[in-house]
Amino acid sequence: MARLFAERGHLVVVADLDPEKAEARAAELGRDCNGIGCDVTREEDVKRLAASLPRCDVLINNAGIGDSARPTLEQDIGHFRAVLDVHLAGTFLCSREIGRLMIAQGAGAIVNISSIAGLDGIPGRNAYGAAKAGIAMMTKSLACEWATHGVRVNAIAPGYTRTALVDKLAADGALDLGKIRRRSPMGRLVEPVELAEAAWFLASPAASAITGITLSVDCGWAAFGAAGDASAG
Ligand SMILES: NC(=O)c1ccc[n+]([C@@H]2O[C@H](COP(=O)([O-])OP(=O)(O)OC[C@H]3O[C@@H](n4cnc5c(N)ncnc54)[C@H](O)[C@@H]3O)[C@@H](O)[C@H]2O)c1
Repeated sequence: MARLFAERGHLVVVADLDPEKAEARAAELGRDCNGIGCDVTREEDVKRLAASLPRCDVLINNAGIGDSARPTLEQDIGHFRAVLDVHLAGTFLCSREIGRLMIAQGAGAIVNISSIAGLDGIPGRNAYGAAKAGIAMMTKSLACEWATHGVRVNAIAPGYTRTALVDKLAADGALDLGKIRRRSPMGRLVEPVELAEAAWFLASPAASAITGITLSVDCGWAAFGAAGDASAG
């Protein structure tokens, strides 16, 4: 997403936990892109991030932590709270602080990252599913509240996408990628660039009348309701 927005002329600020990684990633984007260390669960970090920006046209709330399916009776409250904190409190804090800038500008677009896990139940993924469903609902609330301020708020619900998070779950044996391909009507995972294109569309003037939606970008995953495999994988 950062690469695609930078290639198309945006000055991108990469905010992530590790400042060195954020700076290194921003340096790859060229031009005057910046990297900044920011823990989205910490109010002071998010306020510092917002204060460093003279203006902001697009906010993508992408920070997230994965979790493996685990029997509910064995789930730990600390991990449950941590997942809600990053996804829900993080989306809330970043939207509130950057939304303040956008409202002052009279324009802006926020793209939140939900998930197919927020649309349908995945046994054992209580915190992640609840957090992603919560993001879809927060998207609607913010969209309605800020609609007359020129600020649009939408979300994307990605299907399984080949990123570091999914690679780690697959390497740990927590995800069977073959099974996932067969459950996908298109027989494949989503490519990161396909999510970037969806974020670009939602943030662009082409989507000027679209606010409050959660757009599935999932190779047909959420559309499939029959028994068995959806494709040969
Ligand atoms: N990969 C998938 O299949 C998939 C599917 C649906 C939704 N998503 C969502 O997409 C988003 C991106 O996921 P990804 O697959 O690229 O994962 P990733 O692990 O590759 O990237 C997530 C990033 O979030 C950062 N992060 C974690 N906690 C943070 C915090 N407290 N403050 C700031 N940054 C923090 C991490 O450092 C990491 O760089 C997440 O919200 C994830 O839930 C991913």
